[in-house]
Amino acid sequence: MRVLGIETSCDETGVAVYDTAFRGADGLRAQAVYSQIALHAEYGGVVPELASRDHVRKLLPLVRQTLGEAGLSLRDLDGVAYTAGPGLVGALLVGAGVARAVAWALDVPAIGVHHMEGHLLAPLLEAPDLAPPFVALLVSGGHTQLVAVDAIGDYRLLGETLDDAAGEAFDKTAKLMGLPYPGGPQLARLAEQGRPGAFTFARPMTDRPGLDFSFSGLKTQVLLAWRQSDRGEATRADVARGFEDAVVDTLAIKCARALDAAGCDTLVVAGGVGANQRLRAKLHDMAVRRGGRVVFPRPALCTDNGAMIAFAGALRLSAGQQDDAQVRVAPRWDMATLAPVAPARA
Ligand code: KG4
Ligand code: ZN
Repeated sequence: MRVLGIETSCDETGVAVYDTAFRGADGLRAQAVYSQIALHAEYGGVVPELASRDHVRKLLPLVRQTLGEAGLSLRDLDGVAYTAGPGLVGALLVGAGVARAVAWALDVPAIGVHHMEGHLLAPLLEAPDLAPPFVALLVSGGHTQLVAVDAIGDYRLLGETLDDAAGEAFDKTAKLMGLPYPGGPQLARLAEQGRPGAFTFARPMTDRPGLDFSFSGLKTQVLLAWRQSDRGEATRADVARGFEDAVVDTLAIKCARALDAAGCDTLVVAGGVGANQRLRAKLHDMAVRRGGRVVFPRPALCTDNGAMIAFAGALRLSAGQQDDAQVRVAPRWDMATLAPVAPARA
């Protein structure tokens, strides 16, 4: 089954074709991502209306380009998958509208995919032998969640952030130190030059039991330290390093706890912050020390993309699931309400 995947939940237009005749990443026939970073940069963050309009401009050309690269025509498609939430409502509607129209015209099934399920399943593209149960750490600009994956489509929330998401903390901290949007990757690059231990920040909520996170206080700590410093280039790198170490340590401590709580030894990491090299190294060490395993998608599949939506949609469509013809999106959507992909037979 050849599935067109469309991602437009935020500031990236992503399109891909996934073919279920192949295993893992081999099924990825073509993919393209257009990032709106330059468009939003001068505003210091994503402007929802501009995001929607840019998806309108870029989506159809990107669909044509992706099909061209795959050597396919629209007629070769057997299904369409699109991000139906969570995300910016106007942006989601662009992808959902195009996806529904294509499916209608071709008379093929279509399905709305949960953006975070897309992230969560992306690691399976490159590790096709990976199977539940495992624990997933979802770390993006909008989410920080620890999820017990009992089966594909069967998700139990173990813990989540009570305020800022990890990516949001990276972005806001970068901004207050004067780095341009989107700050996360920039701050990580700067931290490479910083000295470990020159600034030490708290590891929030690690001194008590539980699997929830809180990152907003960390941002305030950084702001105070930064204001009281000489604000030089070297100091900025040291502060960035201190912040990154605090976030990475906090995530690693909670991941170890979540693995204990779930009685699991496999950790899967997904979402934009999963591209962070220090996080990857730290979680790898933690997993190896426990005699377990950690799986990350390649960095390009950590941040928003159409491949993860095509793949997650293909799994559900090939299990016989599909949505009705309404263009329906869900800006807020609880992953625990999703249907299992292959319902257990009674
Ligand atoms: O998953 P994603 O592309 O979009 C959302 O669904 O939110 O995640 C974007 C987030 C942003 O907050 C960005 O700053 C962060 O991921 N991010 C990083 C890195 N690359 C992306 N944060 C830290 N280090 C990175 N290398
Ligand atoms: Zn995302």
